[in-house]
This record gives sequence, structure tokens and C-alpha cells, in this order.
Amino acid sequence: MRFDILTLFPDFFSGPLNYGILSRAIATGTVQIATHDLRAFTHDRHRTVDDRPFGGGEGMVLKPQPIFECIESLEQKYKENNINQLHTRKNECNKSIIEIAPKSTRDTSRHSVILLSAQGKPFTQATAHHLATLDRVVLICGRYEGVDERVNDLLADQEISIGDYVLSGGELAAAVVIDATVRLLPGVLGHEDSNRFESFGAADVQPNDPADGKTPDGVPRSTHGSGGILDYPQYTRPANFRGAVIPEILTGGDHLAIRRWRRQAALEKTLRNRPDLLARAPLTEEDRSYLATLQASLP
Ligand code: ADE
Repeated sequence: MRFDILTLFPDFFSGPLNYGILSRAIATGTVQIATHDLRAFTHDRHRTVDDRPFGGGEGMVLKPQPIFECIESLEQKYKENNINQLHTRKNECNKSIIEIAPKSTRDTSRHSVILLSAQGKPFTQATAHHLATLDRVVLICGRYEGVDERVNDLLADQEISIGDYVLSGGELAAAVVIDATVRLLPGVLGHEDSNRFESFGAADVQPNDPADGKTPDGVPRSTHGSGGILDYPQYTRPANFRGAVIPEILTGGDHLAIRRWRRQAALEKTLRNRPDLLARAPLTEEDRSYLATLQASLP
């Protein structure tokens, strides 16, 4: 998978991309990440990237021209890249790999051009899962008070926001999108399953499943607990830290009891921090009755 980041601050990314899982995924070639300095696509002495908004108003708007020219240069680079790949990856000379543009003919099942902005659709774990299926993602980082809307109309396939707050630019958002996506790529996390059962991950318990520690086909369920709700609390050694002791059940060796405790603790955390998730999470009868007990005990 490859990410191309269009930004006014390419050096910003040397921090977030150089640590832990991301840096390993880059080192092993699972993901390629390139930054492109939008100022390199300006043609005036002052390397101007922004201008005043038509119709008046506060602040400056990113001009379309450097962004269009940068994307056009990437199209050319992709063509060159794929000519090289012909020598290394047999039988993968596929025309759809070559063309990322124009937008009207783009193969969005493999490539996506994304504008990061506070006005975009919310970025979720489902978005990350979708991006992880693509070959190439181009991230356009907005700055100042906005980006000329023609970038959205004519270049971008989607406009994404990482949350209901305004950042000073799309760079932090791009780093978030890349991190959340890359860790889902096959082989990136040590344990292949470890992202399947975390908060917002695949459902571990389906509605009306028997809560006996087995799936309907008899396969024991993971001891992880979430699936559409927040993850359960975790503890590690020491069991007694400055007088704060861990729940006894976790050291008792009864795996079914541990699974049940974790599910209940996850439900409790979700009720407290993200009650909105409970409306669409797959819940068992047992979950619902536990939630009812919790709600009844709320002040
Ligand atoms: N740029 C400014 N705010 C943003 C947000 N919340 N998400 C993505 N890009 C942004």
C-alpha cells in the first residue's frame, strides 16, 4: 500500500512516521509513504499557496493550482513506478494500477484521493478498514481557513474529518488516518487477530449467541470482549499497586468467568463514556439485562 501526502509541512511527518508499528511497516515495505511539498508547485517568487476568499471574509484559502499540479505530477510518477514494477512483479501489468486520475475514471476500489478537513465525513474504524483494502491513498492536508472547493469537486473522492473540532491543518489528521489504516494491513501487528476484537472492531458476541464461551459452530470465542463497544479495562503486574488491587476474577483461571467479567466491564465503560455506541452495537439478552441493572443503579 502507498500513501502520498500533499502538505505545506513535509517535515511534520518525520515524527509520527518514525516510531513503532508505522516505522516497522515502512521498513519492511508493507507500506510506502511519500510527502510532497505544495510550495514546490508554485511559480512565483514568494511561493504563494494561498489567497483571499472571493466574497470577502476572514483568513486565507489554499489555492487550487499547487494542489492540482502536485496531483498531476503524482499521476506521472505512478506511471513511472509501474513501469519499474513490471520488472519485479510478474503479470501485474494492470492498467488500473497506472491511472489514478482523472477523478471521473479513477478506480476507487484501488485508489482514493482524500481531502482532510473539518467539514468532512467522520473518520471511523470502518473507514480505516476500507482504506486498508486500497493500493494507494492520496491525502491532501488543508491549511488556513480552507481549501478552494474545486479541489473537492474535481480531485478528491472523499472529504474526511477526524473529529468535531478544528485543527490548524490536516497534517495531524493525515497522521491519524495513516496510523489507524496501516495497523490493519496484514502482517503489521504481531498477532494477526489483535485488531479484530478491540474497541470498534468486529463483533465478538452476536445477538442471541449463547454466552457459553463458544460461537454457534462450537469454536471457543476470543477472551477479548468488545465488538462495536469500547474495549474492556486491562491490568498487568503487580496485582497490588500501592494498595490498588486488580479484580480477583482475573487471576482465578476461570476463563468463562473472565470473559463474562470483561464483557460487563466493557459495557460499563461504554455506558459511561460512549452511550451512543450502545444503540447500534450487537447486544445479547444478557448484555441488555446487565445494562438495565447498571442504569437502575445510576444516580
Ligand atoms: N483540518 C482541520 N480540522 C480538521 C479535522 N477535524 N479533521 C481533518 N482535517 C482537519
